[in-house]
Amino acid sequence: MVHSVRRLLPILLVPWLVDAKTLTAKIKTPINNTLEYGVATECKTCPYSLCTNKAYYDYGTTVTLLCWTVGTQIDNDTTWLETSDGCYVTQDDLMAYNGTYETDLSYCGEDSEEENLTFDTTVVQYDSECNICPDNLDCATVMYLSPDTEIIVTCWTDAGAAVIGDTTWLKTTDNCYVNEQGLRDPANKDILDNCGPIGFLQLNDTGSRKRESLPDRDPAPDLSSPPGTGIDLGSQYLVNLTVGEDYAYCYNCPNTTTCDVVTRYRFKQEVWMQCYYTAPVEVANETYWYETTDFCYVREVDFFQSLFDQYRFPDCSLFDQDTTTTSR
Ligand SMILES: *[C@@H]1O[C@H](CO)[C@@H](O)[C@H](O)[C@H]1NC(C)=O
Ligand SMILES: *[C@@H]1O[C@H](CO)[C@@H](O)[C@H](O)[C@H]1NC(C)=O
Ligand SMILES: *[C@@H]1O[C@H](CO)[C@@H](O)[C@H](O)[C@H]1NC(C)=O
Ligand SMILES: *[C@@H]1O[C@H](CO)[C@@H](O)[C@H](O)[C@H]1NC(C)=O
Ligand SMILES: *[C@@H]1O[C@H](CO)[C@@H](O)[C@H](O)[C@H]1NC(C)=O
Ligand SMILES: *[C@@H]1O[C@H](CO)[C@@H](O)[C@H](O)[C@H]1NC(C)=O
Ligand SMILES: *[C@@H]1O[C@H](CO)[C@@H](O)[C@H](O)[C@H]1NC(C)=O
Ligand SMILES: *[C@@H]1O[C@H](CO)[C@@H](O)[C@H](O)[C@H]1NC(C)=O
Repeated sequence: MVHSVRRLLPILLVPWLVDAKTLTAKIKTPINNTLEYGVATECKTCPYSLCTNKAYYDYGTTVTLLCWTVGTQIDNDTTWLETSDGCYVTQDDLMAYNGTYETDLSYCGEDSEEENLTFDTTVVQYDSECNICPDNLDCATVMYLSPDTEIIVTCWTDAGAAVIGDTTWLKTTDNCYVNEQGLRDPANKDILDNCGPIGFLQLNDTGSRKRESLPDRDPAPDLSSPPGTGIDLGSQYLVNLTVGEDYAYCYNCPNTTTCDVVTRYRFKQEVWMQCYYTAPVEVANETYWYETTDFCYVREVDFFQSLFDQYRFPDCSLFDQDTTTTSR
């Protein structure tokens, strides 16, 4: 009996050996762990911040960790872990593990360290916020992009908030999302990867990356906005407003005395607004202005509605800052 078993062993081992060659990376026992309290995170197709997402883990999710690899440094930590969903989470988003993953788990293999990204260049057309997630009401703004800024985009999503009915947003190499309507070209979906599932994320200032923490969806009142008498349009800019006077004149700068009329809009015409401007002095009917998509300035009083009640409708001066240096 003993002999026959021994003779059988090499035969039984052959398929196992072949398999083992591909499976060596994952032969140690998986470890379960839970996301750190108050943290939701994206599970990425490669262990780098810009990689597309394969899954989104909400608060309290328990994940099964298969192997470790090395990727983007997050808060002094370059260790990423592959979960049973076949994607990577940073060690930093997990509860402290009493042990060392590098010892207790297998290495995922050199292939896992490859940064597989797609890129396309595009140009900003209208003042655009670049946000931590694809929505400009709740998601924090990472940077303000002014017209003519060249940006590099790395993936697209159709699951963002609608801007002029368009839910397509692109992720830039600064790891923030900009709506397609603010760009000169539509997303090139033939070249770019889809970004995958994206959750509601918040900035956490302890790190220079997007970091998620407890949701706080109640918008704080924007104290920089002057009071207005308009209606809550409940929509996102670019936002159109309707002319309420015979004409709304549009000036090359926000002053009826010193600036020139560039164009005029007729009664009831819908005009798209990019941002608001507040004059440094209070002048009747001329303190509050909007910059339109024709890149000229109209007075707030010439429109039926006001955007000055809108949480997050942006101040034009935010886009004047030179953001091009940080976008590289
Ligand atoms: C880890 O989680 C999986 C799925 O929930 C479960 O099947 C497995 O038994 C867990 N392993 C340990 C060691 O707790
Ligand atoms: C970062 O990690 C290095 C090496 O592990 C360590 O020497 C250093 O003190 C750490 N820095 C911080 C801020 O934790
Ligand atoms: C961590 O693990 C070591 C060795 O297994 C054990 O002695 C120690 O009590 C553990 N610490 C905690 C906080 O669980
Ligand atoms: C990179 O990703 C594409 C899909 O987006 C895939 O077809 C390709 O095999 C990947 N390449 C590597 C080296 O992983
Ligand atoms: C940021 O993360 C740190 C560490 O996880 C946490 O202690 C802190 O409360 C977070 N800050 C915010 C604003 O969520
Ligand atoms: C302008 O906005 C209103 C209200 O949001 C909307 O009903 C209308 O369709 C918009 N006009 C255009 C041309 O999109
Ligand atoms: C427009 O310019 C004139 C002349 O410089 C100035 O007196 C006035 O305050 C300006 N109006 C506004 C709204 O800034
Ligand atoms: C401008 O303000 C005056 C009073 O200050 C008012 O009578 C007039 O109707 C206003 N014009 C517009 C276009 O709102």
